[in-house]
Amino acid sequence: MMGKPKARITRRWPRKVERRLAEIFDLELNHDDEPMSAAALQAAFSSMDAVLTTVSDRIDAGVLSAEPLKTRFIGNFGVGYNHVDVGTAKARGITLTNTPDVLTDTTADLAMMLILMAARRAGEGERHLRAGDWHGWRPTHMMGRQVTGKTLGIIGFGRIGRAVAQRAHHGFNMPVVYYNRSPVPPAYSQSVGATACGSVDEVLKRADFVSLHCPGGAENRHLIDRGRLACMNKGAFLINTARGDVVDEAALIEALQAGQIAGAGLDVYEAEPKVSPGLCGMENVVLLPHLGSATEETRTAMGMKVLENAKAFFSGNEPPNRVA
Ligand code: DGY
Repeated sequence: MMGKPKARITRRWPRKVERRLAEIFDLELNHDDEPMSAAALQAAFSSMDAVLTTVSDRIDAGVLSAEPLKTRFIGNFGVGYNHVDVGTAKARGITLTNTPDVLTDTTADLAMMLILMAARRAGEGERHLRAGDWHGWRPTHMMGRQVTGKTLGIIGFGRIGRAVAQRAHHGFNMPVVYYNRSPVPPAYSQSVGATACGSVDEVLKRADFVSLHCPGGAENRHLIDRGRLACMNKGAFLINTARGDVVDEAALIEALQAGQIAGAGLDVYEAEPKVSPGLCGMENVVLLPHLGSATEETRTAMGMKVLENAKAFFSGNEPPNRVA
């Protein structure tokens, strides 16, 4: 190829990463950081050698039907890539990479934070104080639930699920039970005192806190539905830092309103960035705007991983994090 390959970044990335990407690409930035329309994305696939995407883009069959198609590489900024139609990308000969590992600890920290915030009523307490409604300490004021020693149930015992288990077990003395679709090497569970369960339902029945760490997309859509919410203990909390579509949000609202579970801590939503009004109205729900990997260190590391994959691809080598 003559000159640098052309690349389009769909959103604003950390400046340091954008500067490094500009060393290898003739780079088109998104200065306003507004989400790109389907038509603009399709145009990028017709004119760019690489499109560097994030979770807020819908790279569906329509976008990938661009004619002529110029793009050969999608470097996704994020570990989850259920927003990309992988089958169509493959069929059109496009390589897709993601950014595993570098966000594991950051996301696990946030899951732990949601567990603590939901159980100890942290969001509610802060709203109460800022509203000027706190009139002093009293023995029965805003009592939450104990976290230390309670059972944590993990659905999806991959890198992030195991990092949450490690924090919960070693930091909070929590017994951990988990369900993973494929068998997990014994060393993974032994080091964090975790016990495998034969089904999602078994985890839900045993846990005081259920934390979701499975991929989104068709295979896990509404994995936590009305029936599964009914399997959870009445005093239990549901934590979701995975993908919004793993939970049937309408069923979750019903379960919370009926007092069927004690509360929830959510970082992801079914129709992001829209959040169901029913959730916003409930005090026992902690709501964060998809911040799982949002630290300067991690977001920079994610960008550098995209760079590493792009460099490998455009110099004719196998990208280390190729997923399609
Ligand atoms: C991830 O890496 O999957 C985050 O959720 C952002 O996409």
